[in-house]
Amino acid sequence: MAGPTAVIVLAAGGGTRMRSATSKVLHRIGGRSLVAHAIHAARGLQPERLAVVVGNQREQVVPHVEQVDPDAVVVVQDEQGGTGHAVLVALEQLPEIEGTLVVTYGDVPLLSTDTLARLVEAHEETSSAVTVLTGTVDDPSGYGRIIRDDEGGMAAIVEEKDADDSQRAVREISSGIFAFDAAVLREVLGRVGDDNAQREMYLTDVVAIARKDGRSAGAVTTEDLWECEGVNTRAQLSRLGAELNRRTLARWMAEGVEVVDPATTWVDVTVELAPDVSLKPGVQLHGSTTVAAGAVIGPDCTLTDVAVGEGATVTRTHGSESTIGAGASVGPFAYLRPGTVLGVNGKVGTFVETKNARIADGAKVPHLSYVGDADIGEGTNIGAGTIFANYDGVAKHHTKVGKHAKTGSHNTFVAPVEIGDGAVTGGGTVVRRDVPPGALAVSTGPQRHIEDWVLRKRDGTPSADAARAALDSEESTATASEEPGA
Ligand code: UD1
Ligand code: CA
Repeated sequence: MAGPTAVIVLAAGGGTRMRSATSKVLHRIGGRSLVAHAIHAARGLQPERLAVVVGNQREQVVPHVEQVDPDAVVVVQDEQGGTGHAVLVALEQLPEIEGTLVVTYGDVPLLSTDTLARLVEAHEETSSAVTVLTGTVDDPSGYGRIIRDDEGGMAAIVEEKDADDSQRAVREISSGIFAFDAAVLREVLGRVGDDNAQREMYLTDVVAIARKDGRSAGAVTTEDLWECEGVNTRAQLSRLGAELNRRTLARWMAEGVEVVDPATTWVDVTVELAPDVSLKPGVQLHGSTTVAAGAVIGPDCTLTDVAVGEGATVTRTHGSESTIGAGASVGPFAYLRPGTVLGVNGKVGTFVETKNARIADGAKVPHLSYVGDADIGEGTNIGAGTIFANYDGVAKHHTKVGKHAKTGSHNTFVAPVEIGDGAVTGGGTVVRRDVPPGALAVSTGPQRHIEDWVLRKRDGTPSADAARAALDSEESTATASEEPGA
């Protein structure tokens, strides 16, 4: 497919009805801003030039567009004089454009490259001056109406505010998405006025003027009305977000992914899933997250920029910028913070928080622990309730635990510190000095008892009564066993 010469994405309008300090086109669905969806669909056509017209809140929009598509030409429309004016301003900055020019909107996020390609193909096959994407809807309010001539050809587009009763009754609407012959557009736009209800230059007026000039105007109809729908309100944003998500999940299910409950599963368009991945209810996968074959995610996980290996299981886990090895197990109730790398068949268990931690193949941190700024060697087991004390109040320090070490429950590793290969630590050890390979480290003193302390200091309490009863029965047993012949 030879792409069009250029695509212009209009995104200068305000978004008053969003009632937001954030520009409308920067609101996100499916892990991308509205304008990024529009840019991606347009880029799919492989145009020679791609321009984005910005105006309102451009201090927010311009850096975002530059980040999403550094090759896009950013055109500033200082005052929003209408869609025709926006295109005119863009054409002034792109004088070299000729051939087919496509115009799309920055707030129509479900429009696909396929539909745009169909529009361009029909436009070029019929050598039309202008071709518009139309749809027939139950409720056309707010849209420009398609007015056809006696032969069923395109005659004009009339905006709702300028329409008479019979025009308003028309249910075929303009999506606002067009393909133009750039040379004709340039010439005709010069003659578009603002003598209308909104005192704006309407891009839609190009159709009627071109027809009066004796040029041909065409229409391509889409059955998929979601593709034409724009976002003006928060309610529309969430409706389109839900539909985009349904489409993303349908695509992955067709590729062999199990989605147990699509209603509670949210997957960004940027996520990659392999066949036989299973997504349980309550899963959100964001950003550059990838999940390899056979891995089971959920129930109830939120993973952002996480790579999950083949056959891993991740349960009730919140994770970001982390890697989970093949066959590894995470959760329930784990918190993986950036820089966590869990090896093949490794384990991060229940109520465990990790950060900047490399946990090697087969190593396990099964229960109630914090692992920050650490390397844990292969085959090592970290006891329940262990804290890697990485922060001395001023700076962060690193802890290294060697291979096949077995550390006891309720340890504290005071970084910087190193525990050697094959070492063992006792329960409750506070490790402040390096432990040599193969050593047993203990730091707690011998246990001592102050006999009858509770009986003396807590006399009359249930504890004292229970202790007394236990001691009495021990005594009588001892006396009984001392009796001869017993
Ligand atoms: C427009 C169309 C209407 C179509 C509808 C589809 C015109 C006159 N009307 O109406 O036929 O049915 O879209 O959704 O074209 N924009 C600018 N600069 C401006 C004005 C608008 O960049 O000066 C951008 C907006 O950011 C938006 C798009 O153009 O992305 C459409 O503008 P909007 O004001 O929403 O037009 P509608 O009244 O919805
Ligand atoms: Ca609109």
